[in-house]
Amino acid sequence: MTKLTRASLTKLMKQAQKAARNSYSPYSKFRVGAALELADGHVVTGTNVENVSFGLTICAERSALVRAVAEYGPKIRIAAIAVANLNGKASPPCGACRQMLAEFALADAPVIFPGAKGVRTMTFSEILPSGSELKLK
Ligand code: THU
Repeated sequence: MTKLTRASLTKLMKQAQKAARNSYSPYSKFRVGAALELADGHVVTGTNVENVSFGLTICAERSALVRAVAEYGPKIRIAAIAVANLNGKASPPCGACRQMLAEFALADAPVIFPGAKGVRTMTFSEILPSGSELKLK
């Protein structure tokens, strides 16, 4: 497990901001980026990719997540999550992303994101209480 410091979270946030530059968001113009730090230290980024059907749009967080599994396999654990946007607005992970991330995120993983009154850091279990209780395996 890598050591998570305030400096490493700030770096992760910068990686999320950089990923947001690749956003495909012609409909909302809301450019979001996400960076996931895995327990083994790898960092995987993602951005939102919209679709004319709207409903098929994928958020930055889920695009990073599916990329992480594709790259490093089904045993990954997420040790930290950063979300950023280039629009200067709040962007906490949406409910769908929280549910998807719950499959891989450590309960105490810090989640850093732009809140309504500046950058917020919460743990994963704070943003999704009871998220680990549904178990089929
Ligand atoms: N979006 C994200 O990518 N992540 C978030 O945390 C909030 C919302 C995207 C989805 C859509 O492309 C746009 O932002 C507006 O909702």
